[in-house]
Amino acid sequence: MIRKVIGIYYSPVGGTEIMTKTLARKIGAILDDCSPLDVNVECYDMLKDQSGITFDDETIAVIGMPAYVGKIPLPAAAAMRSFTGNGALTLAAVSYGGRRYGNALFELKRLAEDCGFKAIGAGAFMISYMARRGSARSAAPAIDMDSLSDFCNAASEKIKRLAGCEIEELRIKPMPVEVSGRMPVHKISRISPRAAAAAQSVFNRISVLRRKSEWFL
Ligand SMILES: Cc1cc2nc3c(=O)[nH]c(=O)nc-3n(C[C@H](O)[C@H](O)[C@H](O)COP(=O)(O)O)c2cc1C
Repeated sequence: MIRKVIGIYYSPVGGTEIMTKTLARKIGAILDDCSPLDVNVECYDMLKDQSGITFDDETIAVIGMPAYVGKIPLPAAAAMRSFTGNGALTLAAVSYGGRRYGNALFELKRLAEDCGFKAIGAGAFMISYMARRGSARSAAPAIDMDSLSDFCNAASEKIKRLAGCEIEELRIKPMPVEVSGRMPVHKISRISPRAAAAAQSVFNRISVLRRKSEWFL
């Protein structure tokens, strides 16, 4: 039985934080509605809150990172390694600016699995920094809320099927989630949070291509 949804994120400019909190809160609310016990939601910045967060088989982990140049940022990958998943069911989520998220989602899912999380879903969601700031240059929605909602509904159904039974041995075993990417994982982006904030506006000025969010369960 799921008792807790924990969102952990790395978010230099705030978009990934919004995405992760939205996912964790929506999924927490759906699970809480159909559970006889309370389902609590907690969200943490993975650079600031590395201690005292524990994952177990009664926890859903939502792990959020941004795509920088099609990769996950190095400080985020380093911070992730201090967490131990203990087999917690996990949704890996990448926020991106509407161009290409490249290898980022593949890298995040692999990293989460290396840290002991059991990935049952993954998604890349478009979060437009310029639109979020109200720029007239951006016709894109600030946050692809429709895709986030669809993913939460579908992921919650899967979680209910996988975690609904009290007896571990009787639970349905999840199929591996397929996210395409390259092996070996290429060098992870080394950009620092401060440089990311400066680069963000430049990136969005040159971003014209809009690709829809995608998710896999
Ligand atoms: C240095 C840098 C590189 C980026 N590279 C990409 C990219 O390759 N593809 C993309 O779609 N968005 C890219 N973006 C946009 C971010 O992925 C997007 O705005 C994300 O939501 C930022 O997350 P944050 O607000 O949590 O930092 C990049 C942004 C920065 C600052």
